[in-house]
Amino acid sequence: MKGKFITVEGSDGSGKTTFINSATEYLVKKGYKVITTREPGGTEFSEKVRELLFDSSNEIDAKTESLLFCVSRRDHIIKKIIPYVEEGYVVICDRFVDSSIAYQSYGRGLNKRDIININKYTTDGLEPDLTLYFSVDVEVGLSRTKYRDENNRMDNESLKFYKEVKRGYDELSNDYKERIKVIDANQSYEKVEKDAFKILEGFLNNEF
Ligand code: TYD
Repeated sequence: MKGKFITVEGSDGSGKTTFINSATEYLVKKGYKVITTREPGGTEFSEKVRELLFDSSNEIDAKTESLLFCVSRRDHIIKKIIPYVEEGYVVICDRFVDSSIAYQSYGRGLNKRDIININKYTTDGLEPDLTLYFSVDVEVGLSRTKYRDENNRMDNESLKFYKEVKRGYDELSNDYKERIKVIDANQSYEKVEKDAFKILEGFLNNEF
């Protein structure tokens, strides 16, 4: 039987990465075949593109950046996402096309239609079966991450940029209500995790 393609979206400090780790452990214990992956990255080639994208010594213009995310995504889809879904795995991916719409279009100000179109070309129309969107207010998210040491080229944007990204996610979740499920990530992590598990389990119980 074909597997499922699940993506997890949200800003820094939303708890999404912690959730991905606990969800994976839980699903494996329940007997699902699960693989966790991320964008940009996920394959040897795409991890190299990630290094280019995140290297603070690179000056990259917004369109070049948007294309590099697509380059990395295409390799990831062809070599990993599709083969594992075909094998019956639940593929849990940290970020996907919604990130490009939120960051490159709303954040960087690139034309939304263009970003949608280059991503349609990149994905051949592949869409996640379910997207969990961890929605956190910008100030709350930033206050949770301010003590992290790893800082890359994408981490030094203005408050306005992050607010636009959040607006992008909010609009996307409104436009794709069937696919994108919103989790209020301003709550304590325990509550966030509980809400996210409820949605994930509901989805898997109905779908498998
Ligand atoms: P990462 O270090 O993986 O951590 P986190 O997901 O916790 O933020 O950061 C990925 C960065 O790349 C993040 O700033 C969002 C950005 N990004 C885009 O701008 N466009 C994209 O299409 C993707 C996949 C990510």
